[in-house]
Amino acid sequence: MSRSAHPAGPRHADVLPEGHFPAPPADLNALDPKIWARTVKRDQDGVVTVGGIPVTRLAEEFQTPAYILDESDFRARARAWRSAFGHDADVFYAGKAFLCRAVVRWLNEEGLNLDVCSGTELATALSAGMPAERIAFHGNNKTSAEIRRAVEAGVGRIVLDSFQEIVRVAHIAQQLGTRQKVQIRVTVGVEAHTHEFIATAHEDQKFGIPLAGGQAAEAVRRALGLDGLELTGIHSHIGSQIFDMSGFEVAAHRVVGLLEDIRDEHGVELPEIDLGGGLGIAYTSDDDPREPHEIAKALTEIVARECEAARLRTPRISVEPGRAVVGPTAFTLYEVGTIKPLEGLRTYVSVDGGMSDNIRTALYDAEYSVALVSRTSDAEPMLVRVVGKHCESGDIVVKDAFLPSDLAPGDLIAVPATGAYCRSMASNYNHALRPPVVAVSDGEARVIVRRETEEDLLRLDVG
Ligand code: LLP
Repeated sequence: MSRSAHPAGPRHADVLPEGHFPAPPADLNALDPKIWARTVKRDQDGVVTVGGIPVTRLAEEFQTPAYILDESDFRARARAWRSAFGHDADVFYAGKAFLCRAVVRWLNEEGLNLDVCSGTELATALSAGMPAERIAFHGNNKTSAEIRRAVEAGVGRIVLDSFQEIVRVAHIAQQLGTRQKVQIRVTVGVEAHTHEFIATAHEDQKFGIPLAGGQAAEAVRRALGLDGLELTGIHSHIGSQIFDMSGFEVAAHRVVGLLEDIRDEHGVELPEIDLGGGLGIAYTSDDDPREPHEIAKALTEIVARECEAARLRTPRISVEPGRAVVGPTAFTLYEVGTIKPLEGLRTYVSVDGGMSDNIRTALYDAEYSVALVSRTSDAEPMLVRVVGKHCESGDIVVKDAFLPSDLAPGDLIAVPATGAYCRSMASNYNHALRPPVVAVSDGEARVIVRRETEEDLLRLDVG
């Protein structure tokens, strides 16, 4: 069986029946620690605080909408990933989830490496002092200029994604008089999402070189034959928002199978294997993600077992979590503008942002949670749809959720678990000014990415 699933949504339209919405929570004022950043709680007045700072103060100081990021939570999660994998493995944070210079510094300090997938992500990483040898460069269509920049900078690995790129990188490395460490990204025929994985026919995508038909083996043959390249390993990434380890199991089995073939054909045991990212987080209380140490244990055991069976030395493992590091550490703070009850349907609650700061609901049918954060309420729950201010009926932030029925314009509401793929996929639709990212730690808040201004937008418009 094969069905198309977007490599992202925590819940897909094809997984949940149309019209599904959660039952009202027992306590609308409760904040499920699974979906909120670690230091989030309510103070004695019922106002939600993060890092000890009330959201009302954050809204006053930084305005809304704003992404509020719990720095200590980010660091704790980064550390948890690092220590779960220990010194025999590497954790590359996937910068596409959210990247800025403060994040690069935190990663550097916490001992994580970084995966970038464009020349400008690379520039961000280098400008904030990430050592080049701890950077992996990804992408299915890196330009020659990007490749040159990466090789010149001395990145630790370039992940090769096509036959053309094998030649391009080798050529550029040779021109620059160096030998570039590379991995080859293969598609193992596994596509995994959330609760299901599909282990057939998923070579039909733009990333990687299929194992099928001996294509990956041919890519290895060519890479091994080129002086400009040092082939160190094989890379596989099977999807996003994955809770079930069985997709990784199949992927590891197939990648190790390739390592075995390489040894048999070339007499070389490649020293590295990268299993990509895609580890799931909780967007709603129904989601049940695993802890980094459980994931690390499962992945290392799978690889060790497969290698033992193939009589291969266990390669050094790396992983590339993005969402699982940054996703739960931030929430988006909005102010309620209008409230429109539609008799017999639901109540539409409009906030001062929308699809420009969170495109995931519109794009993937992603599910989110929402809470009233500027006060508590004992009012009855009402079924709401939280929508933005854009000229588009698909401009939905939270599709189905419950908020107290005394909700009023001017209340602050927050959508948790927006740390990953929200700011990084934000747009200027309707000339929206992209919101700031405010990092909060130990009673202090500071802007790490500032809000765009009208001048920023008009400066690009050269008339
Ligand atoms: N490594 C590679 C090679 C990837 O392609 C990705 C994500 C990651 C690591 C990190 O995956 P994570 O651990 O963050 O799930 N924009 C979508 C997700 C697309 C992810 C693409 N690649 C979303 O909003 O859900």
